[in-house]
Amino acid sequence: MLLGVNIDHVATVRNARGSVYPSPLEAALLAEIHGADLITMHLREDRRHIKDADVVAVKNAISTRLNLEMALTEEMLENALAVQPADVCIVPEKRQEITTEGGLDVLSQQDLVAEYVWRLTAAGIRVSLFVDADEQQIQACNDVGATVIELHTGAYAEATTVHTRQQQLMRLEEAALQASEMGITVNAGHGLNIHNVAAVARILAIKELNIGHALIAQAIFMGLPQAIKQMKETIFRARSIPY
Ligand code: PXP
Repeated sequence: MLLGVNIDHVATVRNARGSVYPSPLEAALLAEIHGADLITMHLREDRRHIKDADVVAVKNAISTRLNLEMALTEEMLENALAVQPADVCIVPEKRQEITTEGGLDVLSQQDLVAEYVWRLTAAGIRVSLFVDADEQQIQACNDVGATVIELHTGAYAEATTVHTRQQQLMRLEEAALQASEMGITVNAGHGLNIHNVAAVARILAIKELNIGHALIAQAIFMGLPQAIKQMKETIFRARSIPY
C-alpha cells in the first residue's frame, strides 16, 4: 500500500497570510524523507491553495513522483503537458465547493474523458480518474481506456451511522474488486484520517491512498509543542536568559 501525501493545505496556511511560508516544497521534501511514496497536489482553477510555481518547484525537486490533480479543462491539460508529472488524477471541480465533492462523471462525458486520457497517456503521463464507487462509472472508466482510478472515499468518511459507514465500505470493496478484475489499478482517497483509514487500508485491491487535510491537521498538533519550545528558547536567548 503506497501513501500519497497531499500538500495542498500547507499552501492554504501560507496563502492565509500571503507569506512565503509554510512552503509546500519544504513539506514535500520532508514528506518524502518520512516515507511518502508520492506527492499529491491539486492545482485548482481558482488557485486557492497550490499555485503554478509550487507545482513546478515540487516536480523539479522531489525524488518520488508527482501526482497532479486537475480538472477536465483545456487549461489544465496544457499545464500538465508542460509540467510532465508522473501521474495526473482527473477530478471534478466546482468553483464554490470547499473541497472535491463527489467523483468525476465519466459516464456522461465519455468522449471528452477518453480524449484527455489519450492525450495525457501519449505524453507519457499515467492517468487516474477520481470516481465514486459506482459500478457504471467504473465500467465507463474502463471504456474510456483508463488504467488507473482513484475511488472517492468521501461518502465513507462522512457517514454518520455505523450502518451507512458499513454500506459505503462494502461499495468501496466491490468497486475495487470490479476495477481490479478489469486490470485497472485502484487507488483511493478523500476524507481519510487516523480514525477511519484502517478499514480502507484492509481492502487489498486498493494500492495507494492519497491523504491531505487530516495529515496536515494532525501535523499542527504534533508540531506545536516543538514550535513553542523553539520560539521561547529564541526569545529567552535574545534576553540572555536561559530557558
Ligand atoms: N484524492 C483526491 C482526488 C482529492 O481531490 C483529494 C482532495 O484534494 C484527496 C485525495 C485528499 O483528500 P483529503 O484532503 O480529504 O485527505
